[in-house]
Amino acid sequence: MPPVDPLTDGAFYEGESGDTSVEQVRAYLAGFPAVHFHSGFFPESAKPLEQDMALRFKFVHLDVDLLASTRSALEWFYPRMVRGGLIITHDYGDTTVPGVKRAFDEFFADKPETVVPLWFTQAVVTKL
Ligand SMILES: C[S@@+](CC[C@H](N)C(=O)[O-])C[C@H]1O[C@@H](n2cnc3c(N)ncnc32)[C@H](O)[C@@H]1O
Repeated sequence: MPPVDPLTDGAFYEGESGDTSVEQVRAYLAGFPAVHFHSGFFPESAKPLEQDMALRFKFVHLDVDLLASTRSALEWFYPRMVRGGLIITHDYGDTTVPGVKRAFDEFFADKPETVVPLWFTQAVVTKL
């Protein structure tokens, strides 16, 4: 976990889940050759991708728990979504991680899209 704000990020702590490595994850997902890895903290980890001005996404799945991380993910992916593309997040309805819902509600407050809650705390947005 990157730095955490206890006021918005529940019981998470900086450095949590740090006992792993990109090599371990690569090995775990070795059966999926189309997967690309961008290790490090987002959005810095996505900086090299910004040179590709044509980069667009059809489907984004977020599960980053924190207000700042969710907010920066929306700021980064939203302008790169195709029309009809889907952004799904985990934890929108989980009151133990209130930053996720806050990030979505604040980000989409002045946008035409609607945040639609789904089963088991998820939510989805379809890019218009
Ligand atoms: C709930 S876990 C994700 C679990 C994963 N989806 C799974 O099912 O195994 C949340 C993860 O988000 C990562 N995370 C949060 N903010 C991040 C950021 N700014 N950059 C990179 N990773 C981040 C944390 O390291 C943590 O591992």
